[in-house]
Amino acid sequence: MKKLILPFLFIIALPLTSILSGCNVKGFFTSYDDDPVYESPVTEVVAGAETGGSSADASPGAKTFKEICSSCHQSKGQGVPGTYPPLAGSALAQNADNSKPIRIVLHGFQGAIERNGKTYNGVMTAWAQLTDQEVAEVLTYVRSSWGNSAGAVSVDEVKTVRDQTASKVGAYTEAELN
Ligand code: HEC
Repeated sequence: MKKLILPFLFIIALPLTSILSGCNVKGFFTSYDDDPVYESPVTEVVAGAETGGSSADASPGAKTFKEICSSCHQSKGQGVPGTYPPLAGSALAQNADNSKPIRIVLHGFQGAIERNGKTYNGVMTAWAQLTDQEVAEVLTYVRSSWGNSAGAVSVDEVKTVRDQTASKVGAYTEAELN
């Protein structure tokens, strides 16, 4: 019987141990589900920076802005020179006639314009699929962020403009907004 121990070790026990330890590496014995998850603090810092990190982030319009508008107008409304005009400092975004930025969002905007010495001639598509509330919130956010300081846009204003411009075909040009 004693003679069998050495062969047993080499033929059965050793391969078995290595097979089982191999399984263990893949999580056969240990569940990795409850391992502590490392969340990089960098992610949070970057997320805050995207929306400007200001108190305006709490604004309900910040979410819509981030999801839709920021892809072109950029996270801090700075735009892309020559391609997407800035919303930070934009006279149209902050216009005292609230219907102008509302019409831009509901129907789009196109044609050659000049902003801060740069020429733009792009097409912004309509965002009519947003609800009146979403349009009001996103414009209120735009008008009060990144140094902009224009008043809020109300849900009623958006509804009125939507009704009044229901027959408008295509995007507005700068001249049409006046
Ligand atoms: C696909 C890109 C794109 C997206 C998304 C977009 N825009 Fe625009 N936007 C433009 C372009 C391009 C112009 C300028 C059009 C032109 O050249 O006449 C513009 C112009 C504007 C202007 C006029 C700015 C000025 O000073 O003339 C406002 C206001 C505006 N956009 C608001 C918004 C808001 C609010 C959203 C989100 C709901 C949004 N845009 C989403 C491309 C975009």
